[in-house]
Amino acid sequence: MNSALVDASPARPCATPPALPSRLPNVGTTIFTTMSALAQKHGAVNLGQGFPDFAGDPALLEHVAAAMRSGHNQYPPMAGVPALRQAVAQKIARLYGRQYDPDTEVTITAGATQGILTAVLCAVRPGDEVIVLEPCYDSYAPAIELAGGTVVRVALTPRHFRPDFAAIAVAFTPRTRAIIVNTPHNPGAVVWTRAEMQALADLLAPTEVLLIADEVYEHMVFDGQPHVSAACLPELARRAFVISSFGKTFHVTGWKVGHVTAPAALMAEFRKVHQFNVFTVHTPTQHGLAQYLANPEPYLTLPAFYQRKRDHFRAGLQRTRLKAMPSEGTYFQSVDYSAVSALGEADFCRWLTETVGVAAIPLSAFYEDGREQGLVRLCFAKRDETLDEGLARLARL
Ligand SMILES: Cc1ncc(COP(=O)(O)O)c(C=O)c1O
Repeated sequence: MNSALVDASPARPCATPPALPSRLPNVGTTIFTTMSALAQKHGAVNLGQGFPDFAGDPALLEHVAAAMRSGHNQYPPMAGVPALRQAVAQKIARLYGRQYDPDTEVTITAGATQGILTAVLCAVRPGDEVIVLEPCYDSYAPAIELAGGTVVRVALTPRHFRPDFAAIAVAFTPRTRAIIVNTPHNPGAVVWTRAEMQALADLLAPTEVLLIADEVYEHMVFDGQPHVSAACLPELARRAFVISSFGKTFHVTGWKVGHVTAPAALMAEFRKVHQFNVFTVHTPTQHGLAQYLANPEPYLTLPAFYQRKRDHFRAGLQRTRLKAMPSEGTYFQSVDYSAVSALGEADFCRWLTETVGVAAIPLSAFYEDGREQGLVRLCFAKRDETLDEGLARLARL
């Protein structure tokens, strides 16, 4: 051993660091972290956080392991492994009728969240406004703020979470750079119809406003309703970064691999940012996913897989005093608890976790102003045993 490397004195903590004014002064611990910690402490069934408690397809795991064993372990091309970009482009062409060029219009990202951040960073400058539709995923506003933009919040309709195009139209100004749209929608479990996507296209047509289309739940749509991607409508596709997540689609949220598609001119700007914050994404996973995508069955059967879980969960909720709101897509189900408690949403979730043993997420957490609607979000991406245990506890309410 090199004795020069050994410091005999006991390890000391760092001295006081220089003052660092926060780039995100309003960001603290999220409700998801808080509720998951509380769920663990109280042994609660965690129906709060949105991830599956079951494993991904062994065939997919084997493809990734085989890619690793066969030596796919060095940096891949910056935009992603070509075979995966080709598979993504083919899938989108088949499902949504839009041909993206795998070389110039498809990029593999470290999950959808990185895709969203990179799209915002390449598009938004100080002084720009970006419209978000609340309630919404919690990464949108910090991404816009990091880019120096201003977040313009427009509410979806109360309790039903449909787009209110009159309200959205009013929010446009000459400074509007982009709008972020999420369908199927977390936490509202709403799937935008073709008419709604067309209304969005009509609203955007006279403008040069960009669209950031968060479609991570694209394969979780129920009751035969299609997912109408921004890629389906020419007026949207020409201005859209369309973002999806393999983590959601293939039950492997921890892998953090997603993809972004956009017209070549927009993608060129996207890649300039991508190159210097991520550069490349885990190589063997990309090779494994490329192989796995050769078989469309796993994603084509996903609606039926989750619809069965949704129906099972909703049937169980009927035996409780919670009122299930509609769930058209995603793996979320909101419930109205007004028959059970007059507490505010966050307090109700804490009480539910500590006293009843089921963790949920307050809808108020998805609004900047924390507005109350008497609704909490539950996640049904769980094994039937987990759902049944949660339902048995909820039935005691
Ligand atoms: C609406 C929405 N967008 C993006 C993400 C993040 O996806 P990823 O894990 O691929 O970053 C989530 C995950 O919860 C989400 O609900």
